[in-house]
Amino acid sequence: MPHPPRIRAAQIRVILVVVLLLLSVSVTESAIGVNWGSVSFHRLKPSTVVDLLKDNKIQKVKLFDADPDALKALMGSGIQVMVGIPNEMLAPLSSSTAASDLWVRQNVSRYVVKGGVDIRYVAVGNEPFLTSYSGQFQSYVVPALLNLQQSLARANLAGYVKLVVPCNADAYESSLPSQGAFRPELTQIMTQLVQFLNSNGSPFVVNIYPFLSLYGNSDFPQDYAFFEGTSHAITDGPNVYSNAFDGNFDTLVAALNKMGYGQMPIVIGEIGWPTDGASSANLTAARTFNQGLINHVLSNKGTPLRPGAPPMDIYLFSLLDEGAKSVLPGNFERHWGIFSFDGQAKYPLNLGLGNKLLKNARNVQYLPSRWCVANPSHDLSDLANHMKLACSVADCTTLNYGGSCNGIGAKGNVSYAFNSYYQLQMQNERSCDFDGLGMITFLDPSVGECRFLVGVTDTTSSGFAPYERWIIVYVLIVWFFMV
Ligand SMILES: *[C@@H]1O[C@H](CO)[C@@H](O)[C@H](O)[C@H]1NC(C)=O
Ligand SMILES: *[C@@H]1O[C@H](CO)[C@@H](O)[C@H](O)[C@H]1NC(C)=O
Ligand SMILES: *[C@@H]1O[C@H](CO)[C@@H](O)[C@H](O)[C@H]1NC(C)=O
Repeated sequence: MPHPPRIRAAQIRVILVVVLLLLSVSVTESAIGVNWGSVSFHRLKPSTVVDLLKDNKIQKVKLFDADPDALKALMGSGIQVMVGIPNEMLAPLSSSTAASDLWVRQNVSRYVVKGGVDIRYVAVGNEPFLTSYSGQFQSYVVPALLNLQQSLARANLAGYVKLVVPCNADAYESSLPSQGAFRPELTQIMTQLVQFLNSNGSPFVVNIYPFLSLYGNSDFPQDYAFFEGTSHAITDGPNVYSNAFDGNFDTLVAALNKMGYGQMPIVIGEIGWPTDGASSANLTAARTFNQGLINHVLSNKGTPLRPGAPPMDIYLFSLLDEGAKSVLPGNFERHWGIFSFDGQAKYPLNLGLGNKLLKNARNVQYLPSRWCVANPSHDLSDLANHMKLACSVADCTTLNYGGSCNGIGAKGNVSYAFNSYYQLQMQNERSCDFDGLGMITFLDPSVGECRFLVGVTDTTSSGFAPYERWIIVYVLIVWFFMV
């Protein structure tokens, strides 16, 4: 027989190469993930959120911390997870390997086991280079990365879990994409960061917000923020930019190129559009932007500087509304969710993951259908102070100009504020008193687009839900009689 094994080996090699090629083709396709933040007065149970992710076939989720409840709920889900380290922890992690070892042990190693959580990335800091932080975090970033990398290596996880640093888009600047460069004072840190990312096979993670460009700049051409063509295209040498996303992305590509890393993979850590709290923040605009973005990225067209190579992954901001976030950036800050705080889809959206529409959260445990409103038999003049107090704690952002409840009148305003506070207090009866000016009602006071919410209960931290307890009792009884 004339060497059949060698022929077979050659054939196998050809097959292997073909398989690898096919694999690498499918790997370049972007994946759509979501940010799961939890700065909310009304938190859904983590297991409800994980079911929501699964029902919507979302395979990638980014957290802002390493909350044990969220991570426990993600166990065995197969969902790929990015956990986060808050900026405040960068200093201790940069100065002590004991601290970084402990962080990795407590927040990564313990979960990355069979049937555990598929943690793929650790976000080291969150937008630590933001100009408004005046540089207070930036010197800790690289030392923290180096310590954490050693800790991951000691835990035998360095090849699997990648460290990244989500950067804000104001880390780089330019009027034309091809001229992009990092801010001059960041040059040294960025050089070290990019070298680190490159040597560890990590992507560059950036947050891009065309909404903020539009919100913060009245000259910004509205249609340039979206993906449906523009009368304000930007010409940059041979390249024409018809949307802010491509322009921003290529500014980063050019900045990386200047450092000699023009090929570095890029992940979009946050991108999205809010639905309330500003006149450019509404359902139509959010739907148009997010659907346009998803279609654009999934078309694999890429950008002029990276044709055919869209970002590796994009994480939408955000999964859920977070009603307890600071409104310093603007009232819209509490309304970024593609779902409302209680997991209900706000508008039709095809994530390109298999479902044509978003699916709502199931088995949400609401408080009873009760609201607190201003007692109609009282004079309005006494109410202003109570309203102010209620809104200083609870969320009233939708009442302001551009908000969905802006047109409900003075009395409506007060009722909205009272109810928001009452739900935040888990419908505690006394919290609807307001010196006798409040009143509990069983009729939903919502008007048009303006929704008077009913809170949800998050019973995770207090152990088992009542029905689960009954199941356990039942199982014990059955077991007792069987033995
Ligand atoms: C692990 O992460 C949690 C949540 O982000 C944090 O509170 C905790 O301090 C971390 N553990 C260590 C050892 O730093
Ligand atoms: C919604 O936002 C878009 C885009 O910013 C704006 O053009 C439009 O006027 C807004 N719609 C409403 C009803 O306010
Ligand atoms: C309701 O409250 C909002 C926010 O404080 C205010 O802009 C609006 O003018 C109020 N409406 C009435 C009728 O007082």
